[in-house]
Amino acid sequence: MKISASFLSSQDIPKDLRKLDATDVDYIHVDFMDGKFVLNKTMPYREMKHVSDYTSKRLDVHLMVAEPSKYIPLFAELNTEYITFHVEVEEDILANLQLIHSYSIKCGLAVKPDTKISSLVPYLPYLDLILIMSVEPGRGGQEFIPDTEAKIKEARALLDSYHVNAIINVDGGINNQVISSCRDADMVVAGSYVIKSDQFQEKISSLR
Ligand code: DX5
Ligand code: ZN
Repeated sequence: MKISASFLSSQDIPKDLRKLDATDVDYIHVDFMDGKFVLNKTMPYREMKHVSDYTSKRLDVHLMVAEPSKYIPLFAELNTEYITFHVEVEEDILANLQLIHSYSIKCGLAVKPDTKISSLVPYLPYLDLILIMSVEPGRGGQEFIPDTEAKIKEARALLDSYHVNAIINVDGGINNQVISSCRDADMVVAGSYVIKSDQFQEKISSLR
């Protein structure tokens, strides 16, 4: 299981990013919110871009924004492996997926807990990653929604039936109690479970 660490709940981002850099975590998950697609707003890009000053890990960017086309070119300048935005946005989905690929960055589409996996079907051939939200997007520290397990299985069946190679990532409320519900996924995002502990590596290892 690959692990992507979210620092959304961090009280000291430089310090926690340096600590994560010393672990075997696979990616740093960058949650970016615009106050429109979700109520909360994270720091602006001019501050967020300094993430790469504190870690050499590759970034897994999660755009919770109404206008992904505004932010994709910005995050493409960082050490970014994946840029994921939401299938619920009103912008042209395909154009944004192609915009991400134009920077030779892998693209992902995220689905909120109430959005059907089948909404991804038109975009499957273009996807490198599916992000299944296991909490309502907008803040860290929420409880994992149990229905996610069935959704992961549904996504796996869909990828198999369309012969698509995308990976399945699960985001929200991940800890060692719920990780067994995610065994059909390829990657999980862990936020407060890791960041709020003083044993980053131990928590990361407990999810693998
Ligand atoms: C929620 C974010 C998640 C969150 C994960 O909107 O997309 O990435 O930070 O944090 P935990 O693991 O605390 O739910
Ligand atoms: Zn996220």
